Order: sequence, then C-alpha cells, then structure tokens
Amino acid sequence: MKWVENTIQNIKDTKTLVSLEDIRLSIFGKKGLITNEFIKLKELDGESKKERAKQINTSKQMLESALLEAKEKLTNLELEQKMNNEKIDTSLFKGNLSQTYGHPINITFDKIIDYFIGANFTISYGPLVEDDFHSFEALNLPKFHPARDMQDTFYFNDGMLLRPHTSPVQIRTMENKNLPIKIISPGAVFRRDYDITHSPMFHQVEGLVVDNGNGISFANLKHILEDFLKYMFGDIKIRFRSSFFPFTEPSAEVDISCIFCKGKGCRVCKNTGWLEVLGCGVVNNNVFNAVGLKDVSGYAFGLGVERFAMLLYEVNDLRSFFETDLRLLEQF
Ligand code: PHE
Repeated sequence: MKWVENTIQNIKDTKTLVSLEDIRLSIFGKKGLITNEFIKLKELDGESKKERAKQINTSKQMLESALLEAKEKLTNLELEQKMNNEKIDTSLFKGNLSQTYGHPINITFDKIIDYFIGANFTISYGPLVEDDFHSFEALNLPKFHPARDMQDTFYFNDGMLLRPHTSPVQIRTMENKNLPIKIISPGAVFRRDYDITHSPMFHQVEGLVVDNGNGISFANLKHILEDFLKYMFGDIKIRFRSSFFPFTEPSAEVDISCIFCKGKGCRVCKNTGWLEVLGCGVVNNNVFNAVGLKDVSGYAFGLGVERFAMLLYEVNDLRSFFETDLRLLEQF
C-alpha cells in the first residue's frame, strides 16, 4: 500500500497538534483510508483475503505508532513554546516605572481597614504560631471540638500550631484588660484545605468591641455590620441568620443579597439569592471568664478576606490570588 509510507512521512512532517488530528481522521475516520481498506476487503475471499487483512493490520499498527510518536513530540514542543512565551524576565525594563499594581487581597484589606479606622477602631496583630489556650481553650472550644482536629489545624511537634482563625487575638487583647476595647485584627490564618474556594493559607479580619457594664449588645453589632457591608458592596439587602460559634452567644451568620443576580438566584449564590459573608455574635461569658474579665459586655465578628475579594472582583478560583500571575494582577 503505497499511501501508507507517504502518510507516515506526512505524520512526521506535521507541525501542529491540530493538523495531526486532521491526518488521524483522514486515516481512521468514517471515510478514512484504513476504514476504506477494510471495506474493500469484503470484495476478496479465501487466501488472498487473509493475506490482505494481515497487510492492512500491519499498516494500521505502523500508522498508529507514528501518530502516537508525533503526538508526544508535538505536545512537548507546544508546552515548551508556551513556557517560553510566558516566561517573565523580571530584569527587563518595562518602560512605565510609575505603574504599580495592588494585589486584590491587599486592596480588599485596605478597604475593610479604612472603614473600621473611620469608625474609631484600632488595629491589633497577633502571632501566626499560636498555642492551644489562645486558639481554642480560652475561646470556649472544648478539647473534643472538631475544629481542633488534625484534619483542620496544622500542628507542630511541641503542641504549638498555626492559628486556624484570627480569634486568638481577641484573647490576647482581652488579657491586657485595657477597656474599652475596640479593635480589628487583620492577618493570615491556616487550615488544611485546598480547592477552588479554599487555600491552606488565607486571610481574616477579626473584630472585637468590649466595655464595662452591659451596654454593648447585639444591636450595636448589627448596626455596624450593616453599615460596613453597605460600604463594601453598595446597595444590598442584609440578613442575620442564627448560627453557632463556641465563643459567641447568641451567634449569627450574615448574608448579603447576591450581588451578581440581585437576589434572583444564580450559580454563584446556588440559586438562594443570598451570599454568606461573615460570622459574628455577642461574646460568650465563658470567654470573659477565661481571661478574668468581670461585668463586661461585647461583640465579635470574623470575615474571610479572600471571600470578599472574590465577590468584589468576580474571581472564581481563590487559588489564583496566590499564583502571582501578572495577567491577573495587571487588572488591578
Ligand atoms: N473565628 C470564626 C471563624 O473562623 C469567625 C468568628 C469570629 C465568628 C468572631 C464569630 C465571632 O470561622
């Protein structure tokens, strides 16, 4: 079969995966050359049919291995080309030196912090490597609580851990006993999680307001969070859904009406019309007891910065925030 040799040569000469696929179809497709050979086989019989069938099968195998080899070669080549094209030479002078980009996470942090500074909060930071007492015990998270599970929290051999939330800063702030307390605490937190909405390191902003007496109530919390969320997301509806956190009682999760479909129901809000954006509540008395504060009242809240940034900038894979891809960052 003369065409077989020619076709094998064509396969070897092909420059792209697309044209390779065209050749494959011209051989093995419905009207392909090999398919045709098999059809023509029906016209023969006896010894000559057997002989011919053997020939076709040998050719078929030769063509298949030539295709496979070419596919491998071209795949590697295209990958190599792609890597070369996307390589960033950081030493290259790019012209416009004054152009800088904010990272979407930092921009979101700044916007959140701006609001709370405007509302007279101060900023506190806490250690990323924490102990059990500040991360769990003092926050009324008993020994058997699932949040302590090795599945969720990164532990070191000496019993220390990477904080899985910013709430330990609540405890460290209250330990100082300088009332009134009115802080937010931005920072990184760590959990054993990795998919399109989770990353092992992400960021939270914690809020804590505490003062003597029983003057600080859920109403204060509700007021400031509603004002804050309107500042962040504009004209939205807000609802408080009763929930549970060991360190607050009562507790709530706060939803905003979906900013993409305006509450009608879409893929992002899973057709509920609502998006969950933060957790909050009135500080549980057990927490005050753990730090030795008496006759005080307060509220606390915590939010995920990546979650806010994903909503504000319509980024649908959280992991892309950490890939330092200039094509994403240049949009900010
Ligand atoms: N620490 C909680 C979390 O990580 C959030 C939270 C903070 C809830 C403060 C209530 C009060 O999910």
